Amino acid sequence: MPEQLQGQVAIITGSSSGIGAAIAQCMAAAGAKVVVNYVRSSKGAEEVVGEIEAAGGKAIAVQCDVSQEDQVLNLFAQTYAAFGTVDILVNNAGLQRDAKFVDMTLDDWNWVINVNLTGQFLCSREAAKEFIKRGVVSECSCAAGKIICISSVHEVIPWGGHCNYAASKGGVRLLMQSMAQELAPHKIRVNSIAPGAIKTPINRSAWETPEAFNDLLSLIPYNRIGVPEDIGKAAVWLASDDSDYVHGEVLFVDGGMTLYPGFATGG
Ligand code: BGC
Repeated sequence: MPEQLQGQVAIITGSSSGIGAAIAQCMAAAGAKVVVNYVRSSKGAEEVVGEIEAAGGKAIAVQCDVSQEDQVLNLFAQTYAAFGTVDILVNNAGLQRDAKFVDMTLDDWNWVINVNLTGQFLCSREAAKEFIKRGVVSECSCAAGKIICISSVHEVIPWGGHCNYAASKGGVRLLMQSMAQELAPHKIRVNSIAPGAIKTPINRSAWETPEAFNDLLSLIPYNRIGVPEDIGKAAVWLASDDSDYVHGEVLFVDGGMTLYPGFATGG
């Protein structure tokens, strides 16, 4: 069987560490040429590129703050210069800047909304333009292009102390669905992955002490914390023709976190 993403080019935003790095590695292993985007960690990005190349894949690292329009245009220009086009966009770049609601500054709010939501808009718009211009390349994929938005269980689970983050992910849900509705006639597939608790630096405080880790497990019916590869494998599937009839959907990859585990014994 040919590799699922053979001949395709994938941009993965925020892929110098964590979930994004795993998505980049899984997509490269599935045959895609990969653009590893980073904002500050050129070292992390170069490591991911090095690992992909050592395994026989192709990758480049490109710096870009996804909340800045000119930098997003440059990210796509660099991609076209290196690989000619783009077939898959994974909107993964995201961050938290947590605060109690009454203490949340406008800067805390704007920073999170700008990266987590506006960044997905800016990158998706550039990808969609290219997909429409180029159309379907049938040797590579049934679709003219695929957009995968990395959301969160917090697109549906309210999260006190993180109002900016939850609002950004709730926004990603309707951005994704509205893009899916509008872009379908162009044969562009748009879906989201909503990860639960995945062990990465963003949620270190939730797993680094035994007490915190036990509290976390009480929220996860499947009784383990996720690993970045859980998301990487789901992303490969959503980018491949194996999921060609999946469109406008949110795939929760969360060990059951959205099953309201408190109700297993309460209620
Ligand atoms: C957040 C993590 C959190 C997880 C589950 C993610 O979207 O970034 O900090 O552990 O949701 O609550």
